[in-house]
Amino acid sequence: MTYSFKKTNSSDFLIQYKEPLEILWSKDSIDKHFDNKKSINIEMSLDSNFIGVLIGHYLYQSSDLDEFEILHIAILPKFRNRGFALNLMKELEKLLNINKKSLKIFLEVSSSNKFAIKLYEKLGYKAYNERKNYYRSKSINAPNTQDAILFAKSLNAIK
Ligand SMILES: CC(C)(COP(=O)(O)OP(=O)(O)OC[C@H]1O[C@@H](n2cnc3c(N)ncnc32)[C@H](O)[C@@H]1OP(=O)(O)O)[C@@H](O)C(=O)NCCC(=O)NCCS
Repeated sequence: MTYSFKKTNSSDFLIQYKEPLEILWSKDSIDKHFDNKKSINIEMSLDSNFIGVLIGHYLYQSSDLDEFEILHIAILPKFRNRGFALNLMKELEKLLNINKKSLKIFLEVSSSNKFAIKLYEKLGYKAYNERKNYYRSKSINAPNTQDAILFAKSLNAIK
C-alpha cells in the first residue's frame, strides 16, 4: 500500500467527487479557483487511486514572507481515520516551505467539525479568532448556524 501526492490544476476530481468530498462550491467557483495562478492544489492517491484533495491559495507573497490559506481538505469517506489527511497536510507544508521563507498558513473550520479541529491542533495550528453563526446549515439534523474558528500556523517565524 503506497500513497502519493500530485500538484494539480485540473478540477476533474473535485467535480467528480464533489459530494463525498463535501465541497459546497458551485462548478463555476471551483473552475475559477483552479484558473487562479496563486492556487495550489494537491491530489492524494493510494495505490494510484484518488483518495483525497487539499485546495488552497497564496494570500500574499514577498521576498521573506508567504501567507497561504487552505480552503478545503477532504478524504473520501471510506479512507478516513487512517491518517491520510495528516499526511496530506504535512505534504502541503513541505511544498510551501521549500525555500525556508517565513510562512503563515491560515484556515477556517466549523466549530462542529471535531475531526478536522483535532487534525489541525495535532499539526500545531492555533485558533486565533471566532466568527459567531458564520455557517448556515441546510441539514435538519444540525443546528441552523455554526460558528467558524480561524486557525493559523507559522513556520520559520521572523525573530
Ligand atoms: C476532516 C478530514 C479531512 C480528516 O481526514 P482523515 O484522513 O480522516 O484524518 P486523519 O485520519 O488524519 O485523522 C485526524 C484526526 O481525526 C480523528 N478522526 C478522524 N476520523 C475519525 C473517526 N471517524 N472517529 C474518531 N476519530 C476520527 C483521528 O483519530 C485523528 O486524530 P488522532 O490522530 O489523534 O487519532 C475528513 O474527516 C474529511 O474529509 N471530512 C469532510 C471534509 C471536511 O470536513 N474537511 C475539513 C474542512 S475545514
